[in-house]
Amino acid sequence: MGLFTKDIKSMDDLLLHGLQDIYYAENQITKALPKMIEQATNRDLAAGLRQHLDETKKQIERLDKVFAKLGERPSGTDWPAIDGLIEEADSTAGEIDDKSVLDAAIVGAAQAVEHYEICRYGTLIAWAEELGHDEIVRFLTTNLNEEKAANTKLNTVALRKGVNKQAVA
Ligand SMILES: [Fe+2]
Ligand SMILES: [Fe+2]
Repeated sequence: MGLFTKDIKSMDDLLLHGLQDIYYAENQITKALPKMIEQATNRDLAAGLRQHLDETKKQIERLDKVFAKLGERPSGTDWPAIDGLIEEADSTAGEIDDKSVLDAAIVGAAQAVEHYEICRYGTLIAWAEELGHDEIVRFLTTNLNEEKAANTKLNTVALRKGVNKQAVA
């Protein structure tokens, strides 16, 4: 952000700004997931998070292509929203002793991150569509669908694979 100028002058600028935000978020998530995987006791939870870490790395590659399409270098802006979600997850986990309760907390924290991503990708897709960036819409939609699938999987792990039940046992 310039001190004397307003850097976002058009919808193209706003789209780029939003892409930098999600690029930063995806990179922060890549750094945060290994710790959550390590802390998870439930096997389905750990496996699901591991799979989503691989997906997240591919999502970043897709975003690299999106920046290339726009003739921009991939870059992220430090953004407090995702940092806040990750910090909250981390400090909550640090307060929990019981492994099963920790699993339930990890699911909740991961779902907060997925919903954040779902919300951001939804907006970016709408803007990119309006601007006629069809190829970018396709890349972003693939990422969005993976976030939705990850969230659904977390629901399954919590409700049907025993994480929540174990936590209250
Ligand atoms: Fe993601
Ligand atoms: Fe995700």
